[in-house]
Amino acid sequence: MHNGGKIILGLVIFLILITFPVWYNIANDKAGYVPELEKAARGDDCVRDSNYMTSNHMDLLNEWRDQVVRENDRYEIGPDGVQFERSLSNTCLSCHENKDKFCDKCHDYMGVQPYCWDCHIVPKEIQQ
Ligand code: HEC
Ligand code: HEC
Ligand code: HEC
Repeated sequence: MHNGGKIILGLVIFLILITFPVWYNIANDKAGYVPELEKAARGDDCVRDSNYMTSNHMDLLNEWRDQVVRENDRYEIGPDGVQFERSLSNTCLSCHENKDKFCDKCHDYMGVQPYCWDCHIVPKEIQQ
């Protein structure tokens, strides 16, 4: 057991190294940083509960795609009784008008790069 000291020292160094990003962020006051997102251009609510959307919008988009592409079922009735289209470009981006300052801003921060825009159009890009 005469290596015990070295092992403990090794463990301490290891712990300092793996928690470095945390210390670094605390020291730089970035720990609580969350990107500020642009407010939706219209609507008081999202197509689902906002908290649900924060964590599950990708699942909802997949559901919508399957309903449209496989079942040709393009419309649903919102909580307010108004019918809307299950559409990434026509519906999501009609309220979240600025993809850069909403979708992309959060995705960049989280390191996510959805490939949807290879095919789906961003409405503003056509107007320019
Ligand atoms: C009728 C307008 C409207 C439509 C359509 C809409 N949203 Fe929203 N969405 C909102 C509103 C209002 C909020 C609440 C936050 C705000 O004011 O921006 C919100 C919140 C969100 C949030 C949570 C943001 C956060 O701060 O965590 C996400 C993610 C989101 N929407 C994605 C989508 C996606 C994806 C679609 C299409 C499937 C969509 N929204 C369609 C109006 C809309
Ligand atoms: C509040 C932060 C936030 C906002 C705002 C946001 N997203 Fe996301 N999105 C995420 C996160 C985090 C993931 C990755 C989740 C995972 O990997 O499980 C993600 C994943 C996705 C995915 C799946 C990508 C993949 O490769 O699996 C799609 C599609 C998507 N988002 C579309 C959108 C669209 C469209 C908008 C704007 C209308 C939007 N998101 C706004 C945080 C956000
Ligand atoms: C290879 C091209 C391609 C890619 C990449 C792609 N899609 Fe699509 N998507 C399509 C086509 C084609 C349709 C059918 C269009 C129609 O019938 O209106 C569609 C339809 C949809 C629909 C329903 C109709 C609409 O107007 O939005 C949703 C929702 C959707 N896709 C979501 C996504 C999401 C989310 C991603 C990224 C994770 C994605 N798609 C990536 C080609 C693509």
